[in-house]
Amino acid sequence: MLTSLSEIPSRKSSGLPLAVLTAYDYPTSRLLDEAGVDLILVGDSLGMVVLGLPDTTGVTMEMMLHHTAAVRRGVKRAPVIADLPFHSYDTPEQALANARRLMDAGADAVKLEGGRAFIPQVCAIIASSIPFVGHIGMLPQSVREEGGYKKKGKTPEQIEGLIADAVALDQAGATAIVLESIVQDVAAQITEKIRASTIGIGAGSGTDGQVLVTHDLIGSFPWFRPPFAKARSDVARSISTAVHEWLAEVRAP
Ligand code: KIV
Repeated sequence: MLTSLSEIPSRKSSGLPLAVLTAYDYPTSRLLDEAGVDLILVGDSLGMVVLGLPDTTGVTMEMMLHHTAAVRRGVKRAPVIADLPFHSYDTPEQALANARRLMDAGADAVKLEGGRAFIPQVCAIIASSIPFVGHIGMLPQSVREEGGYKKKGKTPEQIEGLIADAVALDQAGATAIVLESIVQDVAAQITEKIRASTIGIGAGSGTDGQVLVTHDLIGSFPWFRPPFAKARSDVARSISTAVHEWLAEVRAP
């Protein structure tokens, strides 16, 4: 299991996949860290699975700082990656200032969504010695513009664009790149082509690692689960059962 971001390149060459999960609070991050997860992501998915927002576009820097600090308190070993939320990196200056705030709140690296269009922002972050993780493919922060969550890498233009984005982020110095909802063969092709480690979600098994939203893994958000995420627990049912048992006991005559 990883203890530092500097170990990521050797994991790519060793072929042992990186196992990455999201956390947004102290107990979850502590449990994941103690269980041996390689990297913990304070994803802006927290807007949906913790705060009940319809998508991630309503997540603010204040929310990310609050949850990153809680996660930091729970983690002793695993490097923590924090998301830059929607419109927090419109310019290189803004991206750097907000990346610094996330690092001050306890992140070890920051992530933003996008490829070639954001290279000035990525370079500003990396030039200030802040480790950076990219995110390409289906971009949840663009859901409104795109009119839904759509798989990427289905047309020659999309494939060319994804490869160009991955290469640009790699050359800018990204430590890793999340490949979200990308056709399996295309994700594998990108993984072969770049030095940075790829971390897939809904992108097949040909990446250097896998990331999941923990709520999908443990079944604690039963109202929606993406088809590629297999729930290995039913926390929603456990909560419901415990509450019903307690209600019956309290209300027993
Ligand atoms: O916000 C998030 O949880 C993410 C993962 C889906 C990769 O970015």
